[in-house]
Amino acid sequence: MKNTSSPNAYVKGKTLTVIKAIDVGKVDRIINLAQNESCYGTPPSVSKAVVERLKTIERYADVSCRQMRQAIGTVYGVDPDHIIGGNGSEELLDVVARLYARNGDEILYPQYSFLQFPIVAYRVGATPVAVTNKENFSLDVDAILAAVTEKTKILYVANPNNPTGIYTPSSQIDRLVEQLPKHIVLVLDAAYAEYCDAPDYTSGMEYVEKYPNVVVTRTLSKAYGLAGIRAGWVYTNGKIAAAMNNMRGIGNVNALAQAATIAALKEQDFVKDVQQKNKIERDRANQKLGELGIDVVKTETNFLLLNLPNGGANELLKYLAQRGVMTRTNEDYGLDDYLRITLGNRQDNDFFLQLISEFITK
Ligand SMILES: Cc1ncc(COP(=O)(O)O)c(C=O)c1O
Repeated sequence: MKNTSSPNAYVKGKTLTVIKAIDVGKVDRIINLAQNESCYGTPPSVSKAVVERLKTIERYADVSCRQMRQAIGTVYGVDPDHIIGGNGSEELLDVVARLYARNGDEILYPQYSFLQFPIVAYRVGATPVAVTNKENFSLDVDAILAAVTEKTKILYVANPNNPTGIYTPSSQIDRLVEQLPKHIVLVLDAAYAEYCDAPDYTSGMEYVEKYPNVVVTRTLSKAYGLAGIRAGWVYTNGKIAAAMNNMRGIGNVNALAQAATIAALKEQDFVKDVQQKNKIERDRANQKLGELGIDVVKTETNFLLLNLPNGGANELLKYLAQRGVMTRTNEDYGLDDYLRITLGNRQDNDFFLQLISEFITK
């Protein structure tokens, strides 16, 4: 008998997506300020380590990421056995969802936060539940606690947050860690930690060994400049680490990513330099945009969120794209009036600031 049925996917073909097409004008140079990448590259030692490992690329990577985990443990002062490497931190957000949530469960996350949180929920058939923030996008701990039901399995919190750029002070994270029921996994996504210089900021690493349910995710994609090679990691307690280790793909961190990570971690002065340059550029851009009368969310990251109501965000996106500058609108986040711009180097920032000034005064 002829079988005409087609495969039936458990996950819908169309949910949310982070991939967008933007019309770009005919220009000599495209400046990509849409993806929150670093504009400062990596030190030469990183490419050297990658090229060196390429010479024996017929050999598998170390599936246990032993050296990489030791290097992370040394730099961050944590137990390497409680670290899991990832193919970027996004993979690790996904591993947590696959481990702890199923069809019918609920996954909480604050409103206007990283799009991957609902996406990983959809992937496992769980229901993503966005919790309303306070004014100014700040995290509402009480609202989060009130949103917990018997179906809640995971809470994701990005700190600092994407796309708003704001951070949640440690006093609020303290309260959350303390009061969240301990059978719910609390994932603190600290992808932008390196850029945050607020004195009362914490990435949450200090909670990991004290609580049974805390997972901190970190990435080499941002300040370390390794977005394209895919390297991230998790620090959590031994029990969760063992479970995550079983769930992750074997060989999930490829050999080049491991070599690059080990080399990049030795370059802490480089990372400090990136932090400083980013801060200087962030202050400059904030000041200039303020002078232009544009409302910018107070950010602790390498990107800015501009409030441009009445279609202004989309218009500015098009204006910049026609001139080769790629930025990101945020309708998929429910933030139609906002444009997100990643900070570039001084020259690129001067260019986009000049274009915005033209746009405003045209
Ligand atoms: C809040 C947040 N978390 C995690 C990531 C994922 O980073 P990666 O998978 O490159 O480590 C991003 C990337 O933009 C992000 O904005």
